[in-house]
Amino acid sequence: MCGIVGYVGERDAYPILIKGLHRLEYRGYDSAGVALINEAGKLNVFKAKGKVAELESFVTDKDTTGHIGIAHTRWATHGEPNTANAHPHYSESERLAIIHNGIIENYSVLKAGLTQEGYTFKSDTDTEVLVQLIEYTQVDRQVDLRTAVQLALQQVVGAYAIVVLDQEHPDTLIAARKGSPLVVGIGDGEYFLASDATPIVEYTDKVIYIDDEEVVTINKGRDVEIVTIGNVQKTPEIKRLEMSLSQLEKGGYPHFMLKEIFEQPRTLTDSMRGRINVRQDNISLSGFIDNRERFLNAKRIIITACGTSWHAGLIAMYAIEEFARIPVEVEYSSEFRYRKPVIDKDDVVIAISQSGETADTLAAIQLAKEHGAFIFSICNVVGASIPRVSHSGCYTHAGPEIGVASTKAFTAQVVALTMLALCIGREKGTLSPDKYLAIVRELGQIPDKIECVLGQDKRIAEFAKMFMYAQNFIYLGRGYNYPVALEGALKLKEISYIHAEGYPAAEMKHGPIALISSEMPVVVVAPRCGTYEKVVSNIQEIKARKGRVIAIVTEGDDLISKIADFVIEVPCTEECLTPLLTVIPLQLIAYHIAVVKDRDVDQPRNLAKSVTVE
Ligand code: G6P
Repeated sequence: MCGIVGYVGERDAYPILIKGLHRLEYRGYDSAGVALINEAGKLNVFKAKGKVAELESFVTDKDTTGHIGIAHTRWATHGEPNTANAHPHYSESERLAIIHNGIIENYSVLKAGLTQEGYTFKSDTDTEVLVQLIEYTQVDRQVDLRTAVQLALQQVVGAYAIVVLDQEHPDTLIAARKGSPLVVGIGDGEYFLASDATPIVEYTDKVIYIDDEEVVTINKGRDVEIVTIGNVQKTPEIKRLEMSLSQLEKGGYPHFMLKEIFEQPRTLTDSMRGRINVRQDNISLSGFIDNRERFLNAKRIIITACGTSWHAGLIAMYAIEEFARIPVEVEYSSEFRYRKPVIDKDDVVIAISQSGETADTLAAIQLAKEHGAFIFSICNVVGASIPRVSHSGCYTHAGPEIGVASTKAFTAQVVALTMLALCIGREKGTLSPDKYLAIVRELGQIPDKIECVLGQDKRIAEFAKMFMYAQNFIYLGRGYNYPVALEGALKLKEISYIHAEGYPAAEMKHGPIALISSEMPVVVVAPRCGTYEKVVSNIQEIKARKGRVIAIVTEGDDLISKIADFVIEVPCTEECLTPLLTVIPLQLIAYHIAVVKDRDVDQPRNLAKSVTVE
């Protein structure tokens, strides 16, 4: 995920671009850059590692004049977050500059061809390959810039939203998209371009949403022109923005948490982008590929994390043991670091952290490193401490998570860990090719299936009101859905301050069943897979003791619907992926109960998003 913004008009472009970058910073903040053409017709590019504020400090003594420009805030995909890899990227002649959001999957093949033609590269990015390809095409085929962009994009496999600036045409921006968003804002004698409407809304409410495979030409003195990559003319459709500035921060949602719950179809698409190929039959995780032998030779995998990330680790234990047949231990970082654990140099330690800054997890990594273990981290915040001290890892790319109760980071962690388990299993030969393919295909369907679950939000909000006075809750689940029960209970505790406990359903008989009465709501996570029949029996046991059952079931389950008091259906999927669907209603239940109880949903008492002290 990256943020892109462009401007052409009569005003000074720089302040508009910087303000736009600040609005888009939630999309990534490991580097930022700007390109402007000044009055003398010179194309200047300035970039800095870190947040937009770093770029602002860097350019204080630079020439940031000009009435046309493009700017970018980056979320690293190809190439580490440094200044060389920051956008915009120049072409070979430095006549063109490009910004890009997305991933060019076939960039290495294109790069090899351009290298043979004598092109040189200053960065590790796929984006630089694209701008070089555009320049090469223009020179080689003797065509105008728009045609060169069309021809170059015909050769590209992957996702992109790009904007190109040409020193020789200081009134024109050329942009295109496929799979990454792009919006044009139409002002009075001026145009804006951005990844979403947030940088545009204070200047105009007239926008055009660019569709996949469209190339748009924006010229200060002319109407917007749109053609497809295959050169079919399109009529621009101007839409009116229904958005106010005050809504922007939460994107129109009353709380960040609800926004983040609803973002999950998109964040999971982002987590898989560039990793699951276009044909949806292969996963390629660079952190695994580069360290293949460490994983294949691991005698044991130790997963260490805190809070919600620990729950994602428990789900990973089920997946890694099932697919890769490697023993897995899941450890709370705070316990692991102090309990003198036995750690071997052949162990692989997977550290999971949304923030990448949790003190206990950092200390657990340090300890494991001292014993010679290989450290692989799953983190959301690019460039944070945990990925920096790890040997390798995988970013979840869920975007900044602002609500203290983690939601979209959890599902992105589960997706990343599942992809890792599948890669190890396939390489070890412990997972059959058919099963591998079926799960990879199904992963691609998960965003749409989450969308279906989110469609039940209003119903869940209504029923949540009935439980606002409950003092306690029990959450039950088995197998892959036992950690989901723990996560559901944690969500409720965190934001509604209602006491809740999660248990493996079969353990209920060993104690918790004593708590069951008509006063006790019991949430049972019971998709139709694994030990389904056993869970049905557990539900019968609760009902026999007058407990109130809220069941999360697979679509069309008319057995549990007859016994439970309230049922929420989720679409059918592979067993290992059910947590990605069953956790969504639990997030919504916790959210809506907290709202009716008038709690501070985004900043619950006594909690912090990032726990950097012990
Ligand atoms: C805090 C947060 C939780 C989070 C936990 C671990 O308690 O409130 O939401 O799960 O820390 O954080 P990490 O950033 O390491 O995932």
